[in-house]
Amino acid sequence: MSFSLESTAKEIPKDIILYGGTGQSKVVKPIIEFYGSKVIAVFDDTVGLEPPFEDVDFFNGYDALLEWKEKVDIEKVGFSITIGNPHGSVRLRLHKKLTQLGLVPATIIHPDSVIATNCEIGSGSQVMAGAIIMPEARVGKQCIVNTKASIDHECVIDDGCEIAPGATLCGCVRMKRNSWVCAGATVLPRVTIGENSVVGAGAVVINDVVDDSTVVGVPANRYLE
Ligand SMILES: CC(C)(COP(=O)(O)OP(=O)(O)OC[C@H]1O[C@@H](n2cnc3c(N)ncnc32)[C@H](O)[C@@H]1OP(=O)(O)O)[C@@H](O)C(=O)NCCC(=O)NCCS
Repeated sequence: MSFSLESTAKEIPKDIILYGGTGQSKVVKPIIEFYGSKVIAVFDDTVGLEPPFEDVDFFNGYDALLEWKEKVDIEKVGFSITIGNPHGSVRLRLHKKLTQLGLVPATIIHPDSVIATNCEIGSGSQVMAGAIIMPEARVGKQCIVNTKASIDHECVIDDGCEIAPGATLCGCVRMKRNSWVCAGATVLPRVTIGENSVVGAGAVVINDVVDDSTVVGVPANRYLE
């Protein structure tokens, strides 16, 4: 069995904008720079948010992006949507809009992640430091596999999901669209996490989780209102 970064790290564009100016932008920017690329602007919809970086232009809102793009040759400019969960659906919506504008989705893979060669990582997804993705796992579009998260063999992760820091998905787990497994949770083999559902931090999930729900506990059998 072989593991390789080159097989999964997509060529990332030289110039990249970030959409989202809070914590995730601070984690993603150094990875972009590691590959010799540059963050040329950051956008965020939050009114009054402090610019995250001294050395990068910061703009408020999508309209500012439309204005900015008129002054730039955006043909080869990439984007990364640095908005953490529970906002998978927001990332997917923005992914579509920014792609339609002509920007190029960048898939961000930390050099210190371990990814089996026969995995698939979807467009615009982010794999952070220490993350492990085992053989035949499939990760969809605009997912975040966060710091030290572990996705074992044959897991299927649909678009817009996040596996938070230190969470463990055993083999053959299925995460449906926009679901979120929080920090340090463990999902046992072959369990399915429902669409838009949340598994609370530290939970141990032994049964399937229904759509649109939040479950916590060890074992995870308490559904929150
Ligand atoms: C699951 C979670 C999202 C629920 O948040 P919430 O809906 O705001 O829940 P609340 O804080 O209102 O708590 C509701 C109840 O659930 C309990 N609860 C919340 N999270 C829990 C957890 N992870 N494990 C066990 N119980 C939990 C609370 O103690 C509270 O219990 P009570 O009604 O007996 O007082 C959140 O608690 C959580 O686990 N967040 C983790 C976030 C994370 O991993 N972030 C990583 C970012 S990279």
